[in-house]
Amino acid sequence: MTDKYKIIEHEYDVVVVGAGGAGLRATFGMAEKGLKTACISKVFPTRSHTVAAQGGISAALGNNGEDDWRWHMYDTVKGSDWLGDQDAIEYMCREAIPAVLELEHYGVPFSRNPDGKIYQRAFGGMTTHFGEGTAQRTCAAADVTGHAILHTLYQQALKHEAEFFIEYVVLDLIMEEGVCRGVLAWCLDDGALHVFKAHTVVLATGGYGRCYFSCTSAHTVTGDGSAMVLRAGLPLQDMEFIQFHPTGIYGAGCLITEGVRGEGGYLTNSEGERFMERYAPHAKDLASRDVVSRAITMEVIAGRGVGENKDCAFLHLEHLDPELIHERLPGISETARIFAGVDVTQEPIPIIPTVHYNMGGIPTNYKAEVVTLKDGDPDAVVPGLMAIGEGACVSVHGANRLGSNSLLDIIVFGRAAAIRCAELIKPGTAHKPLSEGIYNASLARFDKIRNAQGSLKVSEVRLNMQHTMQNHAAVFRTADILAKGEQEIAKVRDSFADIKISDRSLIWNTDLVEALELNNLLDLSLVTMGAAANRTESRGGHARDDYPERDDKQWLKHSLLWLENNKVKIDYRPVHMYTLTDDVEMIPPKKRVY
Ligand code: FUM
Repeated sequence: MTDKYKIIEHEYDVVVVGAGGAGLRATFGMAEKGLKTACISKVFPTRSHTVAAQGGISAALGNNGEDDWRWHMYDTVKGSDWLGDQDAIEYMCREAIPAVLELEHYGVPFSRNPDGKIYQRAFGGMTTHFGEGTAQRTCAAADVTGHAILHTLYQQALKHEAEFFIEYVVLDLIMEEGVCRGVLAWCLDDGALHVFKAHTVVLATGGYGRCYFSCTSAHTVTGDGSAMVLRAGLPLQDMEFIQFHPTGIYGAGCLITEGVRGEGGYLTNSEGERFMERYAPHAKDLASRDVVSRAITMEVIAGRGVGENKDCAFLHLEHLDPELIHERLPGISETARIFAGVDVTQEPIPIIPTVHYNMGGIPTNYKAEVVTLKDGDPDAVVPGLMAIGEGACVSVHGANRLGSNSLLDIIVFGRAAAIRCAELIKPGTAHKPLSEGIYNASLARFDKIRNAQGSLKVSEVRLNMQHTMQNHAAVFRTADILAKGEQEIAKVRDSFADIKISDRSLIWNTDLVEALELNNLLDLSLVTMGAAANRTESRGGHARDDYPERDDKQWLKHSLLWLENNKVKIDYRPVHMYTLTDDVEMIPPKKRVY
């Protein structure tokens, strides 16, 4: 097989896969610390999906009202429905403050208060005094915060002379005796295959929203790193927890930031009622996303949806000062005009809950090291492998992520990965030769897909997968719907064996890229459905009609999912209910209070 392909070898101290916010923060952090670092990305870095993040990044700076990182921590633990690891949450909320101030110093053009400090807005679930008041904690660059951060990070990476391999598709991890030794990648531009040896590989490959029909994710969000982890025989964690953002534009799925509600926007049903007052009398429209998404769905089910099909709700901003909309929400005004034909200063936007974020992913500790269950140790580190960003499950979001904690997660843990690599790796340490034939199985998989001569188009199989996920692993779930979903998704996954690739070339073969991405999405869909069917309780983003209560006695644990012989294998890891210091202690409450 190696004779058939030209293979070029490289050696680096660290290889980062993915150039979104997490990947770039890690990349330049490594380079800054003197580690020879390569960043490999299938898209140009500033086109990574972080560019689409709108509302902001949370940090208890206290610029627009009192704040404390402990309140941020409390909100995050509560928002996670107590499934988040409290040591990691403490680390994230505490480190948020220096990490965001660093961003400011690197040049992120944040919006400003009259006194010159970073402007902070309210976001769902963010409170003061452990749930008493509303915190303004989300640092914003108008409603294009991801764009502002991503461009600044890329500039920093160039400044620190990190090396970029752009428009390279990483095919697989190279694992030897349980240690990650590098990756195998395909260069779209010249068609060559490349082996990147590294002392540490950092996966920053993002989520896998594209296994759903309607999502806010870019088409490139296909969970490539997570699927590589499954193929390496390692588990993923908590894959049943999918976040639906309450306000995707009806029909198009594009995100309308929660920042709209943070600036005073609100939701209504067909009776003109501000229904969130019924579902969350305290937090109302700024309740956490799982709560708001379920409320919208219940209004629609009760026949109080709006629009021609009565299947969405209205988001109002027309009462807000047009000057404020112009200054703080310019991006969504344009998005609403283009995708909903709505002038937001005059009329409401029709919105619907849309898949937005994967809480689950590659399990890691708070130092970004990938962990697995090994010989009874639930925190066993996988040497040479790290994961950060949406593709990772640290787990700071547990069963449900709070808005603006995602940009924070990518920055804090991108930075943590760089700190940890600097502790572990001496720059320039020699590499051992790789064992003969170590990546042959990966090459064979690539070659087989490239030469597939079946009868189904990639797009057909992808659509079947997306409809199956949308219909069977949605906002509300039951045993019957999920059991059917398990059968259906297994069938769709099997049908991949019958795909047809019409372009056999190695140069910019987008047919093949899409097939490889689909292959990844299908594995992730299968484990997601299996995990959702297995968890018989309701918690955070996982709402079971047949098990409406959270069940801490049975289910206060992380699911671990392996893919073995085309079947999902399930085990568990305990939630870290302990903190890193004595500064805070979180105890799961008996009841939810919204
Ligand atoms: O609504 C938003 O602006 C999304 C933010 C987030 O997902 O963190």
